[in-house]
Amino acid sequence: SNSPIDLAKLVAARRAVDFVESGMRVGLGTGSTAAHMVRELGRRVREEGLEIVGVPTSTATARLAEELGIPLTTLNEAGSLDVTIDGADEFDDTLTLIKGGGGALLQEKIVAAASERMIVIADAGKHVGTLGAFPLPVEVLEFGMQSTRRHIAALLDEADVSGREAVFRERDGARFVTDEGNHILDLHLGRIGDARRLATALNTVPGVVENGLFIDLCDTVIIGHSDGRVEIGD
Ligand code: A5P
Repeated sequence: SNSPIDLAKLVAARRAVDFVESGMRVGLGTGSTAAHMVRELGRRVREEGLEIVGVPTSTATARLAEELGIPLTTLNEAGSLDVTIDGADEFDDTLTLIKGGGGALLQEKIVAAASERMIVIADAGKHVGTLGAFPLPVEVLEFGMQSTRRHIAALLDEADVSGREAVFRERDGARFVTDEGNHILDLHLGRIGDARRLATALNTVPGVVENGLFIDLCDTVIIGHSDGRVEIGD
């Protein structure tokens, strides 16, 4: 689309791709902002002979990158990565993120953790004072998922949050299924008082695979504005 928000995403994505050099192993994020980045990277590969190898964070991103002629490998083959460029659903001043709106948080977090540097690209509307207006995605195993949900609900009763609703994500009238065959529980928290504590607590619940809080992973955020301006924060 050509909306002002889409322009903001596009200018942020373009600036991020300036940081990519030949020889790099690059983690490729997921979502509409990351898709702009993958297309721009594809253009540089084709037009400038940029030599990189990409590690996608979802089947959707893998498909797009393949179409564009970006050489791909797996994280296991690549070992470590020079940089990962990905979007986010929210970020705060400490560069803590909420991710997983597109359901790819598990591979995204593993790829980010394997990267020397994580660059987040986002439109300015995703910058928040306090995280939590965007529902926090939690990936859970199908096995025992209702029991897992009850344990999470009990944990939220004690947590420093303002909302406590936990809803399994649906798509086209059926449970949403992740690339890893799991489900997503969206936590409507309103305000997350202590992200580090909440992330740790969630990941101790049996059946929780991973949560969408990204802490100490993002190094740089590139913020696009709808008038085409770009700001860099780190
Ligand atoms: C995918 O699972 C998410 O983490 C995305 O990075 C996030 O939802 C941002 O998506 P958009 O760029 O489409 O807003």
